[in-house]
Amino acid sequence: MFPRGHIISIRDFSKREIDFVLSKAKELESYAMGTQGDLLAGKILANLFYEPSTRTRLSFEAAMKRLGGEVINMYSPEASSAAKGENLADTIRTVSSYCDVIALRHPQEGASRMAASFSSVPVINAGDGAGQHPTQTLLDLYTIMREGLLDNLRIAIIGDLKYGRTVHSLTYALSLYRAKLYLVSPPALRIPDEIKSDLEESGAEIFECEDIAEVIREVNVLYVTRIQKERFPDPAEYSKVAGTYRITTKLIAENENVMIMHPLPRVDEIDVEVDRTKNARYFLQAFYGVPVRMAILSILLGR
Ligand code: CP
Repeated sequence: MFPRGHIISIRDFSKREIDFVLSKAKELESYAMGTQGDLLAGKILANLFYEPSTRTRLSFEAAMKRLGGEVINMYSPEASSAAKGENLADTIRTVSSYCDVIALRHPQEGASRMAASFSSVPVINAGDGAGQHPTQTLLDLYTIMREGLLDNLRIAIIGDLKYGRTVHSLTYALSLYRAKLYLVSPPALRIPDEIKSDLEESGAEIFECEDIAEVIREVNVLYVTRIQKERFPDPAEYSKVAGTYRITTKLIAENENVMIMHPLPRVDEIDVEVDRTKNARYFLQAFYGVPVRMAILSILLGR
C-alpha cells in the first residue's frame, strides 16, 4: 500500500488504493467515536501548518491520539523559526528527525511534493495553496460511500472551482468512480482548463453552468464550496464574485433527497436554516475526517 510512501496528490492513488483506505476507515470508525485504541502507540505525528486550519489539523490530532499516538504541532509560521527566515526544506529536514509522519499545510502549490524530497518520514499534504487536498477528498468519498451513493453518482460542485483545492482533488477522484460532474460557478471561477482536460481525457462526463437551479433536480449530491478570498491576487476581483450564490431551504425543496456537503469552513454560502434539514451532511462529513485520517496514518505507519 502507498508504495510512494507519501500522500501528496489524489492522482497518485488508484481506485483500489482509495477503496482500501475507505474500508480501513470503516473498520476504525468506533475508535473515532471514543473507544481508546493503541494502534499508533509509540508513534509521533508532526503537524506543520503554515496556513490556518480547524478541521484538518484537529482531526489529524484526534485520529492520532484516539489510536494511542502522540502529536507535536507547529500551529503557524509566525510561531516558528519560519518567522526568522528558515526555509521549508531545512524545517522539514529537522522536523522529520523528531517524528514518524508529517502533515503539512502550506500556501504554495507543490510545497508538499518538495517537502517529501527532504523528509526522512512520510509527508501528508494537508492542503497546498490552490493545488490539492487529498485527505479531504478521501473523507468526502467516505461520506458519499457511507450514504451508499459512490457508484453512479451525479454530483453538482458549486462555488470556487478555480482556487478550491478540495474541488481539484475531488473531481480527479470522482472520475475514477465514473461520476457525472455538474460544475456550477461564476465564469471567473470556472475549473482550470488543464484540470478539465485531464478529467475529459479520463472519460469524465462534465456539464458546466452558472445557475444551480438548472441542475438541482438532476443530482444526488450538492457539494458547496467557499469562495477562497485569500487566493485572489486582486481584492476587487473577489468583491465581484463574493456572495454570488447561496444554498437555501427553498432551493433544497426542489430536490428533497439531495445530500448537501461542504468541506467547511462556511462563510455565507449555505443558510444556517439548511443545517436543520435532513439533507445537511457537512458536520458529519467533518467528523468522518477522524476515521479517514486514522486509516491514512495506520496505513502509512504500517499498522
Ligand atoms: N476542510 C478543511 O480543510 O478545513 P480546515 O481549513 O478547517 O482544515
